[in-house]
Amino acid sequence: MKHLISPSILSSDFTNLESEIKFLNESKADWIHVDVMDGVFVPNLTFGFPVISQIKKHAKKPLDVHLMIVEPERYLKEFKNAGADILTVHYEACNHLHRTVQEIKSLGMKAGVSIVPHTPVKLLEDVIEELDLVLIMSVNPGFGGQKFIENTYKKIKQTKELIKSTNSKAIIEVDGGVSENNAAKLVDAGVDALVAGNFVFNAENPGRQIENLKELRF
Ligand code: DX5
Ligand code: ZN
Repeated sequence: MKHLISPSILSSDFTNLESEIKFLNESKADWIHVDVMDGVFVPNLTFGFPVISQIKKHAKKPLDVHLMIVEPERYLKEFKNAGADILTVHYEACNHLHRTVQEIKSLGMKAGVSIVPHTPVKLLEDVIEELDLVLIMSVNPGFGGQKFIENTYKKIKQTKELIKSTNSKAIIEVDGGVSENNAAKLVDAGVDALVAGNFVFNAENPGRQIENLKELRF
């Protein structure tokens, strides 16, 4: 499978969200990455259900919703109703991750689990077979435009091995600081989906930048 591109609307122009979504509909993007932050799990706040529902009204591509919130299990149904297609929760934010993953799937969404840079991949060992997606954070979550952490490559390799040894169907997504400096190397290492915020929306030609990420042509 060719790798997927999931531009993060966190770096888009929120005063023109409708046109940003329409732009993504027409682009080579595969998914739309939606970052939800609660100011508790991460030191930043973004948006919630009303905004996601508005995005969904215009989006023609799956919403790849990344929850950076504590106790995400409290809101799974609301995220489904707002339009999430893929729902990713943080390992560090869930007391009963296995149950939360089952609930996400039973609501008809794809289930993802994310780990922050200091969380070892091996902690996913007992849940990996249940997952549709593993999201490796390549920056500390909370903000767009941060510097990519090089240790990520090692974690991708470990995730690949874990997936292989358990026959899991999970795909690997990477989020944070993705750019021309690392995209090809990440795909080479086995990444299936690249999230990119700043690199896309701060480019002179965001549409071309998405194409560049898709074709790994820089
Ligand atoms: C960070 C978010 C990311 C962010 C990525 O906490 O989860 O999705 O938007 O932005 P860039 O690509 O600019 O690092
Ligand atoms: Zn994200």
